[in-house]
Amino acid sequence: MISTLLLGALLLKLAFQLFKTASDLWLTSHVFRFQQTTTIHKLFGKYGPVVRVSPDKVAFCDADTMRDSYSVQKCEKSSHYKLFTMLTLLDNASHSARRRVFGSHYTAANVARLQPEIHNSALELVKSLELTAAARPVDCLDLLRNFVVDIAVFSTFGHNLGALGKWTTNVPDDLSVAIADFPKMGIVFVAKRIHEVQHQIDTGKEFEIPPLVSRMLQYRQPSTNDALPFEVLVAEGVAHLVAGTETTSTTLSYFLWEISCSSDMMQRLQKEIDTAMPDPRTIPDLSVQNLPYLNAFISEWFRVHGVITGLMERVVPATRNYNLMGYVLPPGTVVGTQSWSIQNSPRVFPSPNRFDPDRWLDGSESGSAERAAHMMPFGLGTRVCTGQQLAQAVIRVALVALVRNFDIRADSSTTKASMRMRHGFAAFPTAGECKLIFFPRTE
Ligand code: HEM
Repeated sequence: MISTLLLGALLLKLAFQLFKTASDLWLTSHVFRFQQTTTIHKLFGKYGPVVRVSPDKVAFCDADTMRDSYSVQKCEKSSHYKLFTMLTLLDNASHSARRRVFGSHYTAANVARLQPEIHNSALELVKSLELTAAARPVDCLDLLRNFVVDIAVFSTFGHNLGALGKWTTNVPDDLSVAIADFPKMGIVFVAKRIHEVQHQIDTGKEFEIPPLVSRMLQYRQPSTNDALPFEVLVAEGVAHLVAGTETTSTTLSYFLWEISCSSDMMQRLQKEIDTAMPDPRTIPDLSVQNLPYLNAFISEWFRVHGVITGLMERVVPATRNYNLMGYVLPPGTVVGTQSWSIQNSPRVFPSPNRFDPDRWLDGSESGSAERAAHMMPFGLGTRVCTGQQLAQAVIRVALVALVRNFDIRADSSTTKASMRMRHGFAAFPTAGECKLIFFPRTE
């Protein structure tokens, strides 16, 4: 009670609080209407870079504070995360022990070893579209979920799922459907795969590319030398599939839609990619290719949209107050920012609402450093996205393969209105689909 009063008294300084936030209800009503991100963004415009959005929650929009709270202070995640995934250990100590288990799986070097698998899947995607979908609308959210789930299952369990093949023959893949429908997540699938990998380890299988689960099965906890409990393995397996699949496939769908909106951008991308990839069926090693316009396009997309648009909440530690831009916040206060707002600074990104890949091609060093300091599409600090190297690799390979092989147009049902983002923690199109048409290119 005393700490609540103290919290209230200290937070009283924030002008906005008296107006809006007598309780959590105001914010919650926006969460349920998928409007939290845009509502908070408007508040920054009206009240400045610090707003109190519920009795114990302060949102900010400032790049220095962003670095301080996520990277320097290493504030822990808020209990809000428990609402929607199991991957979200809250306290730093348990998290850093767990992260050590899977950290090495997602390094750039290990992701490079997955390159052949990613290339094969991207070429299978091209073939599927040629076989089944040329010149007829395809829901990319569905198609690309099947494409990404194959890679995610291979990376996590070393198992060839074949979801994309099923999509081609019009048979829904159970796991892909379960991921689209979060509450029915494929726990049974994950548990079965873990037993399978355990069996492979027991029978002495040498993995060419060890799946994530084999690392987790072989990990021993430093204090007890015990293996991770089975329920933790299942929770992590599920979490990595969920965290990696919808995010990546929704991002890719939006990329393709953005390309379909501008023939000028499509032609510039095609010109660059045609040079780097003379044979439409051989994807080059993209880690050594110089593709400045593609890179600029991807950076701009992550800046303007990104799919994780929600407030990345952290808690002021129990041991000290936190001085956030002049406001002294007591322990327990939830603080956070959202990429949607931080990446919209008009000073760093003039006319921030304009989608303009060329802004990334200004070669000045200070310009690029400023831009990088205002980007957080994959989060920041100790809890930065584990899978970002994998996501970036999959996105680049798929884009290159599709843009090299197809001209992409939007179906008449896919419009600015149908693609307007609805903001949960992750964003998704209002219509729940993204129908595009792929026309095979003639040489
Ligand atoms: C375009 C694709 C992706 C985007 C935009 C994205 C974005 C993010 C963001 C913003 C966070 C930090 C959340 C926070 O701090 O509150 C995060 C965390 C995480 N992501 Fe991703 N992600 C993507 C793909 C992936 C993939 C492919 C995987 C794994 C295969 C993955 C696994 C994770 C995990 C495990 C965490 C939690 C990390 C931790 O707490 O230590 N993500 N992601």
